[in-house]
Amino acid sequence: MSISQLSLTDFRNLQSTTLDFHPSINLISGDNGSGKTSLLEAVFVLCQGRSFRSHHLKKSIQHDKNSFLLFGRFNDYKAGLSKSSDKFDIRVDGETIKRRSILVNKTPINIINADSLNLITGSPQQRRQYLDWCMFHVEHSYGEYWQQYQHALKQRNKLLKFKKDVNLLDYWDDYLIQPSLALQNYRKTYCGEIARHIKSGMAGLLDDVDISLEYHQGWHSSMSLQEALNKNREKDIRAGFTHAGIHRDNIQILADGHPAADVLSRGQLKRLSIALFIAALKTLRQKSERQLILLVDDLRAEMDESAQGKVYETLLEIGLQLFITNIEPHVPEVIRGKDFKMFHVEHGMIKPRKSS
Ligand SMILES: Nc1ncnc2c1ncn2[C@@H]1O[C@H](COP(=O)(O)OP(=O)(O)O)[C@@H](O)[C@H]1O
Ligand SMILES: [Mg+2]
Repeated sequence: MSISQLSLTDFRNLQSTTLDFHPSINLISGDNGSGKTSLLEAVFVLCQGRSFRSHHLKKSIQHDKNSFLLFGRFNDYKAGLSKSSDKFDIRVDGETIKRRSILVNKTPINIINADSLNLITGSPQQRRQYLDWCMFHVEHSYGEYWQQYQHALKQRNKLLKFKKDVNLLDYWDDYLIQPSLALQNYRKTYCGEIARHIKSGMAGLLDDVDISLEYHQGWHSSMSLQEALNKNREKDIRAGFTHAGIHRDNIQILADGHPAADVLSRGQLKRLSIALFIAALKTLRQKSERQLILLVDDLRAEMDESAQGKVYETLLEIGLQLFITNIEPHVPEVIRGKDFKMFHVEHGMIKPRKSS
């Protein structure tokens, strides 16, 4: 899905406004502190019901105001969100929804910004989430397996923590294993697809380095999950939580056979992280007809002109709705001659600009 119109009220430093977006390319310019990232954040919140900037959506309410409102028109639905200090309301086509996942399911959205580097240098959890994001939007059974898995793991950990009814562990192990293996299978498949895209071309971003991905399960490689759970049982009871499981899986990213985070320069790491996002977007696009929204925050601060050009070229090929921020009202070479919209932000005021 793409977003055609956004209305916002009292969101961050932005002046209340209604904007009509281009279905594929939107360029946003403005000085530091003008409100560019806040505009991207508003689009993100409207798709996800959460922010990429803070766990507390309350922080996005304009200072000295009681609440913010967001309203968006997408291809085939409308979404409205209101957040005050003690209330959070999400509406889809006018009806209040109870589960955020209903909104999240509608439009896949992701962001490339300075934090994208964490995909390589951050915790295994960040890499698992990166794979899970793809699966969530493509595999219909993913959500169900995820819920079963979360429930079983929670129950198991509860038994371990309170050391009561440990005889029920066998029962919960049975419930835990099947969804765990189903989810892990998906993850391995997606990891393989992403690795394939990386091999077949990194958008010219890291041609001199051989990148590979290895999926490592969160228990000893010679054991089944059942065996690992059995073997760890005493240890689990002592510690009060489950050691072995897919919550410990990791994707190792290697450059010429060495952990990428250890050997690549910061510039190379930035380019690799962007290449990994591009590979995930390609994977998602291939498996699903759904349109994706991609926010690209301040890429000029991240990489040189020619690398940026390659990134934009690849993103345009994938077919996404793009929102790209930059300080200067600069139109990248590959976008010139194409149809797009520009916006300029000044002290929180967003104005459409002529794109010539
Ligand atoms: N809740 C808020 N209410 C009002 N202003 C805010 C709020 N949160 C952040 N700001 C201000 O919004 C301004 C714009 O931030 P940002 O969107 O990050 O700008 P840019 O991305 O253009 O550099 C900053 O000056 C910041 O201090
Ligand atoms: Mg910014």
